[in-house]
Amino acid sequence: MKIVKVNNYEELSAVAADLIAKQIKAKPASVIGLATGSTPIGTYKNLVEMHKRGDLNFIKVKTFNLDEYCGLARDDAQSYYYFMMDNLFKHINIPKVNIHFPAEKDSDWYDKEIAQAGGIDLQLLGIGSNGHIGFNEPEDVFHKFTRVVDLAPSTIKANARFFKKMEDVPKTAISMGIGTIMAAKKIVLIAGADKAELVKELTKPVISPQLPASILHFHPDATIITVTSR
Ligand code: PGA
Repeated sequence: MKIVKVNNYEELSAVAADLIAKQIKAKPASVIGLATGSTPIGTYKNLVEMHKRGDLNFIKVKTFNLDEYCGLARDDAQSYYYFMMDNLFKHINIPKVNIHFPAEKDSDWYDKEIAQAGGIDLQLLGIGSNGHIGFNEPEDVFHKFTRVVDLAPSTIKANARFFKKMEDVPKTAISMGIGTIMAAKKIVLIAGADKAELVKELTKPVISPQLPASILHFHPDATIITVTSR
């Protein structure tokens, strides 16, 4: 697990975008796993700027998002599909057919789609304040495949900031499994200043499904970019 310490959110966003751009330049038909939440917004802004400057071409890129709420239509402003359109996809030249989101279909459908695309070359991750990656919440076991998950009360509370009423916040989502994430060739996890203590916890040599991101200790090419006051 490689830890890259940066001073602020701008640096975090620039470093993450550079790693994604490097991947796409090295392999124009890269398969990229993408994340939602507040943290990746700056990374996506940087990627859009690189594209607008003519420095980055997404025409052959395929994307697979980590997760999606159950029960929200794609055009719902709170759906992760809408978020991705708004923050990245509508500003770049990725063909719509190359964009993938998990959905409530057969249990192994999404994992098969990813495998058919050749597997994920680079997976971008955020981290929940309870240590979740995707929507793999703290539990007694690590789940391997993409599936419907019950969101933890702390996640529902954290997500509530985007909804008008608490009742509107989805209680379930469909998420890539820990095995789906770990199969990515490269992983880049971005953690803002609010997650600095959590990253410290993560760097301890303990791997537990109660801290789902700790599984990244077993990944051969995982980078954590963390904002710290040095
Ligand atoms: P955040 O969410 O980037 O909004 O903090 C991260 C996550 O829950 O994965």
